[in-house]
Amino acid sequence: MYNMNELTEIINKCRRCSLHSKRKNVVVGEGNIDAKIMFIGEGPGEEEDNTGRPFVGRAGQLLTRMIEAIELKREDVYIANIVKCRPPNNRVPLEEEAIKCLPYLRYQVAIVRPKIIVCLGATSAKYIISREIRITKDRGVWYQKGNFYIIPTYHPSALLRDPSKKKDSWEDFKNIRDKLKKL
Ligand code: URA
Repeated sequence: MYNMNELTEIINKCRRCSLHSKRKNVVVGEGNIDAKIMFIGEGPGEEEDNTGRPFVGRAGQLLTRMIEAIELKREDVYIANIVKCRPPNNRVPLEEEAIKCLPYLRYQVAIVRPKIIVCLGATSAKYIISREIRITKDRGVWYQKGNFYIIPTYHPSALLRDPSKKKDSWEDFKNIRDKLKKL
């Protein structure tokens, strides 16, 4: 078992898939490694690739506000992605890329041991919960796996594209806030 610093060193050197060749920075993840709650997105975009930090672009700023809306701070939570290197033109990560990167996320989850995992969007839900998940139909439903409660909800980018989804998203976040208080 690695600690987060050791794991970060390993991930920073990763060349397991072709995404490594165009990256400026690896985006491992950030936040409180004792967090009770972990948010998992899809993969770094341009600003994340430029800075090496997850969710710092427009979608990230919205995520930060959503976290604050449920009475948490960004520093209280842990934030990571399915893939740690930016896919070209922000395309959805290929299955092969996600599968090669997933062991890193599993280590991160094993280190942080959150009580709640929030899957942001379809890609995150697909690899963490099940291939069968359809985000529009299945969002807001709790899944229990091992010691974790897992909930799929919309990716903040989806909310920026379609603000009519914000109402459902807020229901999910209130639900997350209430669950967290009970755990
Ligand atoms: N979108 C994601 O899925 N992850 C990030 O880190 C940024 C944008």
